[in-house]
Amino acid sequence: MEIQRKDEVRGELLREIFSIQEEERRRIARELHDETSQALSSLNANLEAALGILPSGTDKVKARLKEAQAISISILDDIHKLIYELRPSMLDDLGLVPAVRWLADVNLVAAGIKVSVSIIGKERRLSPQLETTLFRIIKEAISNITRHAHARNASLSLHFQKHTITAHIQNDGRGFDVEEAINSKDRPRGLGLLGMKERVELMSGTLDIRSHPGKRGTEITIEIPIKQEVTLGENKNTGGR
Ligand SMILES: Nc1ncnc2c1ncn2[C@@H]1O[C@H](COP(=O)(O)OP(=O)(O)OP(=O)(O)O)[C@@H](O)[C@H]1O
Ligand SMILES: [Mg+2]
Repeated sequence: MEIQRKDEVRGELLREIFSIQEEERRRIARELHDETSQALSSLNANLEAALGILPSGTDKVKARLKEAQAISISILDDIHKLIYELRPSMLDDLGLVPAVRWLADVNLVAAGIKVSVSIIGKERRLSPQLETTLFRIIKEAISNITRHAHARNASLSLHFQKHTITAHIQNDGRGFDVEEAINSKDRPRGLGLLGMKERVELMSGTLDIRSHPGKRGTEITIEIPIKQEVTLGENKNTGGR
């Protein structure tokens, strides 16, 4: 009884942490968008204006200003990437499937890994909590493939059933010892798989990771029940993501 209560409290705390974390990411993304990138754009416009009014015979100054302009544009690009990394607006606006396709493109395809994304069943919007959970888990799985697997091919599938969503992530790279990786004392690294497990458990789902050292390939299956009463639109602005 005591242990069960402790687990409940721990679950509540974790849920709270994940939700605060999403809210904070969203706040930083907004700040970067509204303040930092606006300021850089105006810096860029000022440089452009200065270049326009410089008289002839100021080639050296012009070259410097152009250099400064190139730097500001490159910072702006980085910031836009960061904003998207923090909280892809696509996830809120278009949902899980476009966001997952985007993740696959910018990570796997960009790393030269061939990837196929398939959607089984009727694609639909899920609760913000569920979409966020799946997005964060798939993001970690993809990041692990690019960082650890040395894979050539990967495949991702999302299966929309009536009461369940199943995500399947596979790669043909080098396998690893799952037990050891999850129970590793090598912190703070190695929190990815553990985080996946925690997130799935909070949504009353299951996580199955199949991989073996010395063999090729890793296969991850996540199954999470879809609670019918929470559909999109009802709780768009809650801190649940
Ligand atoms: N798809 C994969 N292919 C091969 N090895 C993997 C894969 N996923 C995980 N691993 C192995 O399991 C270990 C633990 O993974 P985990 O995601 O928990 O931590 P990490 O990626 O090392 O660090 P982080 O906390 O940044 O995620 C990795 O260091 C790696 O050795
Ligand atoms: Mg990881």
